[in-house]
Amino acid sequence: MIDSLNLSGRTYLVTGAASGMGRATSILLSGQGARIVLVDINKEGLYNTQQQCTGETYVLEMDLSKPESFKGKVHDTILEFGRLNGFIHCAGIPYISPLKTVSPDICDKVYRINSYSAIELAKLFVNKKVYAGEFGSIVLISSVYGLVGSPANVGYALSKGAIQAATRALAIELAPKGIRVNCIAPGFIKTSMMDNVSSSFSEDYTQRLDALHPLGLGEAEDVANTILYLISDMGKWVTGSILNVDGGFTAQ
Ligand SMILES: NC(=O)c1ccc[n+]([C@@H]2O[C@H](COP(=O)([O-])OP(=O)(O)OC[C@H]3O[C@@H](n4cnc5c(N)ncnc54)[C@H](O)[C@@H]3O)[C@@H](O)[C@H]2O)c1
Repeated sequence: MIDSLNLSGRTYLVTGAASGMGRATSILLSGQGARIVLVDINKEGLYNTQQQCTGETYVLEMDLSKPESFKGKVHDTILEFGRLNGFIHCAGIPYISPLKTVSPDICDKVYRINSYSAIELAKLFVNKKVYAGEFGSIVLISSVYGLVGSPANVGYALSKGAIQAATRALAIELAPKGIRVNCIAPGFIKTSMMDNVSSSFSEDYTQRLDALHPLGLGEAEDVANTILYLISDMGKWVTGSILNVDGGFTAQ
């Protein structure tokens, strides 16, 4: 193990831990010695992830669309499991809808889960009772669609652009506390979300997807590896950055 990637003695909360990038991240960080609070709305998926983690984990079933319920649950978890060094926000939902059918209610739900829940988690995290006081690091997951346009995607793009703006604002506000805040903008990654979304793509677009990624489609582990770099001591001088992990999607 490269020493600066060693996370022994540190504790991280990972949202979206029941599937895809959140699961891959939990397994990877756990293998690097971190203790993990696994958060998701999908209890069965959380236990599945827990079984694949090698280190100590704590399952926290939580609906991220209801920020008013976070405080009690996170504080109870910290009392039982210990304080956090950071969190990684991987939970998210897609929203494909042409402009004429975009709904404020659905936009609100997508925004709450994809973006605003991270702000509420950050608010809780900086509390002395929650933050372990050292190695502070937050990683938020955006999307290439926070950077470039695509049709029928305005509601999702809104939530993913917001995450990028929030990353920069939080990075500056939290730097005096020694907490770094970074963001990853993934291209298409083979997870259950991509399976669901791609079912609504035209045949032509599906065929073009590979070509849109010069290195081919990504794996959840490609994002997890970048998260490990960002939260570990390897990334100790990196804050406020948006890292494209997209197989070349946005380089074209
Ligand atoms: N897969 C892709 O191609 C891709 C590309 C760019 C960005 N992203 C983003 O990456 C992140 C991870 O996506 P993924 O591909 O791993 O998806 P995924 O569907 O495999 O995992 C998302 C997780 O979020 C959880 N979740 C959804 N709503 C929740 C809620 N209300 N409360 C708590 N948990 C909830 C789900 O249960 C699921 O376990 C998302 O933010 C997604 O928007 C995905």
